Amino acid sequence: MVAASRKNPVSPNGTETGPGPTDVLIVGSGIAGATTALRLARNPRRRVTVVTREADPKQSNTRWAQGGVVGRGRDDAPETLASDIVAAGAGASSPQAARLLSEEGPRLLQEILVEEAGISFDRGDSGQLIFGREGAHSRRRVVHVGDSTGLSIIEGLMAALRRCPNVNLLTGFTAVDLITFPHHSRDPLATYQPITCHGAYLFDREARRVHRHLAGFTVLATGGLGRIFRNTTNPMGARGDGLAMANRAGARIVNAEYVQFHPTALATPGAESFLISEAVRGEGGILLTPDGRAFMADYSPQWKDLAPRDVVARAIHHQMETHGYPHVLLDIASRMPAAAIEERFPNIRSTCLEAGIDITAEPIPVVPAAHYFCGGVLVDSWGRSSIRNLHVVGEASCTGVHGANRLASTSLLEGLVWGSRAADKMEACMSSGSLPLPPLEALPPWDDSGLVSDPDPALIQGDMQTIQNIMWHYVGLVRSEDRLSRAIRELRHLWNEIETFYRTTKLSDGLIGLRNAVEAALIVSRAAYHNRQSRGCHYRQDSESAEGDRLI
Ligand code: SIN
Repeated sequence: MVAASRKNPVSPNGTETGPGPTDVLIVGSGIAGATTALRLARNPRRRVTVVTREADPKQSNTRWAQGGVVGRGRDDAPETLASDIVAAGAGASSPQAARLLSEEGPRLLQEILVEEAGISFDRGDSGQLIFGREGAHSRRRVVHVGDSTGLSIIEGLMAALRRCPNVNLLTGFTAVDLITFPHHSRDPLATYQPITCHGAYLFDREARRVHRHLAGFTVLATGGLGRIFRNTTNPMGARGDGLAMANRAGARIVNAEYVQFHPTALATPGAESFLISEAVRGEGGILLTPDGRAFMADYSPQWKDLAPRDVVARAIHHQMETHGYPHVLLDIASRMPAAAIEERFPNIRSTCLEAGIDITAEPIPVVPAAHYFCGGVLVDSWGRSSIRNLHVVGEASCTGVHGANRLASTSLLEGLVWGSRAADKMEACMSSGSLPLPPLEALPPWDDSGLVSDPDPALIQGDMQTIQNIMWHYVGLVRSEDRLSRAIRELRHLWNEIETFYRTTKLSDGLIGLRNAVEAALIVSRAAYHNRQSRGCHYRQDSESAEGDRLI
């Protein structure tokens, strides 16, 4: 639960500075947050604020998506996609949520990404869309822009957002905590009301002060938490900010044990976070041991290299652990002509070349890395969380689509569908009467009087690395009661240290992130500890056997 806010955002003359109240505050500017804003902005009377901690709003998880977005392939149908999603989800995907995504996704992809954001997905000579294939998809259905789909999408969405006069896009603001009543109310009688969100405390990174930003609705679109693990494909901001804030406010969190590891991150010093898209295997790439033996048929005779991600990642881990390999190899060079590789994977080719690997001539060294958070803040089919007036969209949410293991290239589509649905629901509520905002005086001021010391970057970095190491070794691809209980003990100790650090030191973005990272790490570890059944990407080597098990 939220403790009383501690820092005073009131300027010397007593007026609140910074962004004023809005109808909707959206925290995060990836595909889910941007879609929510764009859809709300269709009503010119709505005032929408989008905030991101980044200086460049294009910097989000979306930007790094390589493979593409699930569309509707040629011999495809919504039921076929829904059935692939449910199969990949290892028995824990919500069939209703999978159906909703499959039915509404392709229309929204056309409306929002193609028509509104102007994205030109790759097409063949006669103008037909080119559909890619990825693991556990029974059809070719992934539309893409080379291997930089996320970058094209976010550039298009940001350009579209900038054309909306009623959207205020604020960069360099880090959300510290949600403003929720009764937690932040000065009225003792608020205790008897349901938990309600009225906005967020926002830290202005440049001015180094906190603003109370009131909003009728608040939307968390903060992305995932890959950065709490040592090896990850995620950018720096993926530290579980939204999950931690929602948890402190008392929102219901589910499926937190299901952290998906991508099988293939580049394994060269200095380029560890770089993803080698599953589309490489979709185009025929084969995983090999360092001495050149293909091994995936031993683990998944049916799907081989295109097995669900959890199976491929564990197979690689098993090979590395059993034989002491530092990595395995991914061979596309002998499966696709060099010119075709250059055309289909220009970004992967050039990044690997910088790391000294020519993917048109030699295999790529790869290892698994934390990639996607399948759990999150539980939301309904409209993105509503268990807290009133708080919606959560994108990777920070759990819609039920991904179950225990996400099907490749479904996350951008989920951001589109739930972003759009959340906007529709908020618009319907607002058009039937505006939501009353509490006056600023109803909130305690942010009191940072007496806090003098600046956060020591060495402490922040050291604690962050400790969290990442604990999560990688004890809460990683292979888990056990011993490893998880050790993780929880160490993280609890660290949580106490960091909370003291937070309460006694001036704020910085790094300190906010560290506090969220340790909170998120504990949420994941506790969920993994309490779930003794292996399922999807949660693999317990001391597992009770379970339906949905795909053990190796
Ligand atoms: C990839 O290109 O392999 C990543 C796509 C995804 O995670 O859906």
